[in-house]
Amino acid sequence: MEIVPLGPGVAAELRGVTIHDVAASEAAYAAVRAAFEAHSVLVLRDQDVTDEAQLAFSRRFGPLEVTKVGAQGYGTNLVILKTLDDKGNVVLEDHRLALENKANQLWHTDSSFKRVPALASVLSSRIIPGWGGETEYVSTRLAFERLDPALQRRLENSFAWHEYAYSRGKIAPDLAGPAERAALPPQCWRLVWKNPINDRKALYMASHAYAIEGMERKAAHQLLAELIVAATTPGASYLHSWRKGDVVMWDNRATMHRGRPWPAREPRYMVRTTISATAVDGLEAMRAPTRHRRSPTSLPPRDPAWLISDPRGQR
Ligand code: OGA
Ligand code: MN
Repeated sequence: MEIVPLGPGVAAELRGVTIHDVAASEAAYAAVRAAFEAHSVLVLRDQDVTDEAQLAFSRRFGPLEVTKVGAQGYGTNLVILKTLDDKGNVVLEDHRLALENKANQLWHTDSSFKRVPALASVLSSRIIPGWGGETEYVSTRLAFERLDPALQRRLENSFAWHEYAYSRGKIAPDLAGPAERAALPPQCWRLVWKNPINDRKALYMASHAYAIEGMERKAAHQLLAELIVAATTPGASYLHSWRKGDVVMWDNRATMHRGRPWPAREPRYMVRTTISATAVDGLEAMRAPTRHRRSPTSLPPRDPAWLISDPRGQR
């Protein structure tokens, strides 16, 4: 297997290995896993992709997420991102499927709003538009390393709340419906995820993050916005231009990504599998200490009035 670096300190193409090799061979998995821990975004070109092959590849890395309510692929291990209706026609720009793609065009990390966040996502292209529709990635490890040490220490000991309905609300007020809101209550995670394999620390934030424990809401918003701007500074990203047969895998602990626009009348069809994080991926250290935590479900989901302002919360 050959590893060809692609971006500015993030992303690499793997040559001489296929998704089928990884599914079938422990040694191939170990090599790809090591590259994943090191490079955060992996690109495999010219793959013979089927749903089954993508699932078998993905299962190697850990337990697969079950697709959430309200998404195409609900109840299966596949997330279908496509802008085609049941009859195969491209949907209009204000259609829910088109709006959901718009929400994916905000910088984010997958599943930070879930009870179990995601270790990794695997995305394959099935129908690609004539231009645009790229996926762009930044390293939140490098973003963390660029911060001032005092801010680094503060963030390592801070916890942010993430909510799906919040990021969807940026696109359209009711894009997340009642069933999604009920199924996906806010979740609280440490703002820095330490990789237990190489000890590298990464900012853990996203379009879903809307509050920081112990911080006034406006100040928290501003800090989150500034961190996202700093992480995505020009020149920091790897832009993946999709070709048929591409499979891209990324580390949701150490990157943010966003989709890029494409001509609305052209179809785009992608399939994602998502791997849940487990203890070996450093998940336990991400949880807020329970003594400092109030249950967000006991209060209205979008009201951060319950934010903890106890100075003992300064950890
Ligand atoms: C995703 C995602 C962006 C894209 O699948 O998680 O954000 O370019 N996709 O489709
Ligand atoms: Mn995504």
